[in-house]
Amino acid sequence: MSTVLVTGAGRGLGLEFVRQYAADGWTVIATARDPARHAELQALVAAAAGRIRVHALDVADHAGIDALAALLAGEAIDVLLNNAGTMGAEGYAGSGMQAQRFGHSNYEDWLQTFAVNALAPMKMAEAFADHVAASQQKKIVALSSVVASIGSNNLGGLYAYRSSKAALNAILKSMALDLMRRGIIVTPLHPGWAATEIGGPNAPMRPQHSVAGLRHVIAGLTREKSGRFWQWDGKELPW
Ligand SMILES: NC(=O)c1ccc[n+]([C@@H]2O[C@H](COP(=O)([O-])OP(=O)(O)OC[C@H]3O[C@@H](n4cnc5c(N)ncnc54)[C@H](OP(=O)(O)O)[C@@H]3O)[C@@H](O)[C@H]2O)c1
Repeated sequence: MSTVLVTGAGRGLGLEFVRQYAADGWTVIATARDPARHAELQALVAAAAGRIRVHALDVADHAGIDALAALLAGEAIDVLLNNAGTMGAEGYAGSGMQAQRFGHSNYEDWLQTFAVNALAPMKMAEAFADHVAASQQKKIVALSSVVASIGSNNLGGLYAYRSSKAALNAILKSMALDLMRRGIIVTPLHPGWAATEIGGPNAPMRPQHSVAGLRHVIAGLTREKSGRFWQWDGKELPW
């Protein structure tokens, strides 16, 4: 049976990944900053008869990542799913395209956004590469965003979020090349515009739909698809 580790699993797309992978019979390692705060996650755990295990993890805490990797030493992880992400203090959901506009940068918040969106998936991969290499599927994925695409940016703004996800994409491209020799597939994924806290209530897609599509894309990842940027419906996106 396959195993997935999901970060930011308490709500939004992360919670939906836990729900769908567990329903599909996978072993799920669900991590969240404060699992006790998330009643829906706790209910899934209670109903899953041991197939969902929960660990507290703030992905900006590198010592915490190392400690979890050590705790899980020897356990194969088929899919390392870097889902946790942030828009920072001023998100799209509240401010629309007025968010993070020129002349209004909050640099402290920008650095924290970078720590969560770009550096944390790197640290997770470095800590868990052996677990992934020991698995059958050998996949490291991260939720990026179409707004990371420099080639398709024709609206401007969203400086912190865009740049953190563009950095994530650059990191994953190098990682795909570096880990190819270990047979590990690495790729960023865009979930579409989904109704979560980050997506906001006007988003046209339900998390269930986005995650079902992403799971299909993840299941179909091959070595040839590694190091490329994929959307929830299988379409390839420009960098
Ligand atoms: N929804 C969209 O339309 C959309 C579009 C493009 C990309 N994405 C990406 O999809 C991913 C999931 O976002 P979402 O839409 O599900 O938004 P969400 O509902 O706001 O969920 C964000 C998740 O990230 C977690 N998180 C934030 N900072 C963290 C940290 N330091 N350590 C651990 N977990 C942390 C949150 O945990 P807490 O509960 O502890 O805060 C929460 O579980 C993100 O990477 C996002 O950038 C979403």
